[in-house]
Amino acid sequence: MSSSFLFRLLSLAFFHGAVWAEQRKLSPENLLVITVATEETDGFLRFMRTAQEFNYTVKVLGLGEEWKGGDVARTVGGGQKVRWLKKEVQKHSEKTELVIMFVDSYDVIFASGPEELLSKFSRLGHKVIFSAEGFCWPDQRLASKYPEVRTGKRYLNSGGFIGYAPEISAIVQQWKYKDSDDDQLFYTRIYLDKTHRTKFNMTLDHRSRIFQNLNGAVDEVVLKFERAKVRARNVAYDTLPVVIHGNGPTKLQLNYLGNYVPTVWTYETGCGICDEDLLFFSEDKQMPLVYVAVFIEHATPFMEEFLERLSTLNYPKTRIRLFIHNNVVYHERHIQKFWERHRSLFPDARVVGPEENLKEDEARTMAVEVCKKDPECDYYFSIDSDVALTNPDILRILMEENKSVIAPMLSKHGKLWSNFWGALSPEGYYSRSEDYIEIVQGKRVGLWNVPYITQVYLIKGSVLRTKLSQVSLYMDEGGMDADMVFCRSIRDQGVFMYVSNRDEFGRLVASSNYNTSRLHPDMWQIFDNPVDWKEKYVHENYSKIFEDEKTYVEQPCPDVYWFPAFSDKMCDHMVETMEDCGEWSGGTHKDERLAGGYENVPTVDIHMNQIGFEKEWLKFLKDYISPVTEKLYPGYYPRAQAIMNFVVRYRPDEQPLLRPHHDSSTFTINIALNRKDIDYEGGGCRFLRYDCKVESPRKGWSFMHPGRLTHYHEGLRVTKGTRYIMVSFVDP
Ligand SMILES: *[C@@H]1O[C@H](CO)[C@@H](O)[C@H](O)[C@H]1NC(C)=O
Ligand SMILES: *[C@@H]1O[C@H](CO)[C@@H](O)[C@H](O)[C@H]1NC(C)=O
Ligand SMILES: *[C@@H]1O[C@H](CO)[C@@H](O)[C@H](O)[C@H]1NC(C)=O
Ligand SMILES: *[C@@H]1O[C@H](CO)[C@@H](O)[C@H](O)[C@H]1NC(C)=O
Ligand SMILES: *[C@@H]1O[C@H](CO)[C@@H](O)[C@H](O)[C@H]1NC(C)=O
Repeated sequence: MSSSFLFRLLSLAFFHGAVWAEQRKLSPENLLVITVATEETDGFLRFMRTAQEFNYTVKVLGLGEEWKGGDVARTVGGGQKVRWLKKEVQKHSEKTELVIMFVDSYDVIFASGPEELLSKFSRLGHKVIFSAEGFCWPDQRLASKYPEVRTGKRYLNSGGFIGYAPEISAIVQQWKYKDSDDDQLFYTRIYLDKTHRTKFNMTLDHRSRIFQNLNGAVDEVVLKFERAKVRARNVAYDTLPVVIHGNGPTKLQLNYLGNYVPTVWTYETGCGICDEDLLFFSEDKQMPLVYVAVFIEHATPFMEEFLERLSTLNYPKTRIRLFIHNNVVYHERHIQKFWERHRSLFPDARVVGPEENLKEDEARTMAVEVCKKDPECDYYFSIDSDVALTNPDILRILMEENKSVIAPMLSKHGKLWSNFWGALSPEGYYSRSEDYIEIVQGKRVGLWNVPYITQVYLIKGSVLRTKLSQVSLYMDEGGMDADMVFCRSIRDQGVFMYVSNRDEFGRLVASSNYNTSRLHPDMWQIFDNPVDWKEKYVHENYSKIFEDEKTYVEQPCPDVYWFPAFSDKMCDHMVETMEDCGEWSGGTHKDERLAGGYENVPTVDIHMNQIGFEKEWLKFLKDYISPVTEKLYPGYYPRAQAIMNFVVRYRPDEQPLLRPHHDSSTFTINIALNRKDIDYEGGGCRFLRYDCKVESPRKGWSFMHPGRLTHYHEGLRVTKGTRYIMVSFVDP
């Protein structure tokens, strides 16, 4: 660093110090923040929360009053604000030490505290400062009358201003117009009048040192993360604004910033439903009444499991009113079965079936209207069939969050596809927010104000009956999809929608490759929905093999391992699928064809490719059998290839046994698909070299043994009934 540079730096610091000394000392007791709100909207409550966080003293004008200031979002108006302000500031017109700041509240948040605000105000060296923006509104003809600026925004915005009480008072005392006249035009005229401008010592905050209007400046504002704290920063002028105003069409950007400012977010997983929170619902208190509405709008895998989870929600069923709209004929059997099992839990349930021909938006409207019309309805919980809620406490957890509209964050297993959008495109469709991936992956944890949620959410009944009472939540003349109409209606009413990833709630089920013309189509879902598939079709103790081998793996004969593989359901669905297919071959045992030289060993069987299950079977081998092989035969890494994959049927009058043979495989798995002494008698397997028999196969358990050399074996005679086994020659 050159010494002259250092000198300049020092003199600069000195100069600043000198200016500083001349400034008036302003302390937070001398600051009064005034705002206008006729309703406690979510936006207003957010404003007040941020004010409280920074210890601002706020005077709210107009609460409970009727608004006559016009629809300021779309047209001019706002005169009523000035009328109220005029009356209020008159009380303070003599207080020369008092600083008054006026800000809107529905679309404003504080990003910093009173000390910083006052110090910046003082440094700006004017008595009255209005916020600035890049648009000249409401009268563009006035644009040329504005003083030129070298950098920064040129035009006045009256959503925020600050000044000494006598000057502010003198300005607003000039108001003598109608409530529906425009407040911004009023202040603009005063500012553009040079005499007034000088007299009141007015200026604009051109470079957002205090006020950041987002309209036309969204790209200038970024979040700056530092340790656990975050601050919005204007990168065009390198300033840290204190008041952020989501004016014009920038409400959603403000919602996004409001997720971080001023709250401090954390990388740690939240405590979710904390113990102390639970006190809110003490046991003897009656739980809120929830209308649960289920929508089955398209064929969905794992429907039985979905319905079953409704019965295991950890919530008193007497406080649930169940509504089901089923639009799919294929699923009527599942509803029927659910109903037979759980009718007593949900005596007042209402099911609307496909025969009623209700469209999705009509069904959703019908369901929500019931809650809206029932003053006893505390919450409306809407859930679609492709939502797998694995957290039975979900209702309590979402209620605890105490939001008007809230969704649990869910995504497809291992994917970025979720049930919310972080941002909207200008056309109102999906746009990825900066933080979307981190939220989906749980790297940022919290409660997020978002513009779009879908598939599952909880709405307060009181909000349906007040702020949302006049809107059609799902129906739209333009034929827009119900989910889009829903979110737009909620946004338009100024109600915030949140998504929470503070707890683990479950996942979304993929339903696009679901082929209901199969007998048990869920069996084919191993690729699209691997977690659901595992829960349904893999033995509940399979995973314990890797934790406690001694207990869960047996070795009945030398190098013949025996372990749990299939669930009962998998066994049953496999057998039923084979019997439904019916193409049993009395052909030759296929290992003879492959390996040549072996004896002809015929079985009655059906191959996986005959039922179109080959790909899925190989996936099962790779995901579930290979890890066991690697564990039990260390040093061998299976390629998990197999061409011979089939179910064998043994019957006394058909093929009762299989004579001794080798398998054309490196190793073979053999899974029993039904129950000895119930479904059949006899049966089992004998390894001749060791003269070792396994005579009591267990349903769902698999043998695994070497194929070609040592484990010459035979299938023992079935003396009664029918025995089924699934056989696979791995790595031929
Ligand atoms: C607000 O005031 C409380 C107590 O009066 C204090 O503990 C807290 O630190 C203050 N917060 C800020 C941001 O100044
Ligand atoms: C406003 O007042 C300050 C001192 O209080 C003065 O330096 C400045 O020139 C004034 N500005 C205008 C535009 O009158
Ligand atoms: C829930 O939020 C409302 C405002 O939306 C508030 O009035 C109420 O006190 C809150 N309830 C609890 C238990 O925090
Ligand atoms: C659906 O399954 C049937 C057999 O049940 C099969 O013939 C058909 O090709 C499958 N469709 C698709 C798209 O896979
Ligand atoms: C799983 O193992 C436990 C003992 O650890 C046993 O009680 C249970 O029945 C097993 N599950 C099945 C489906 O066999």
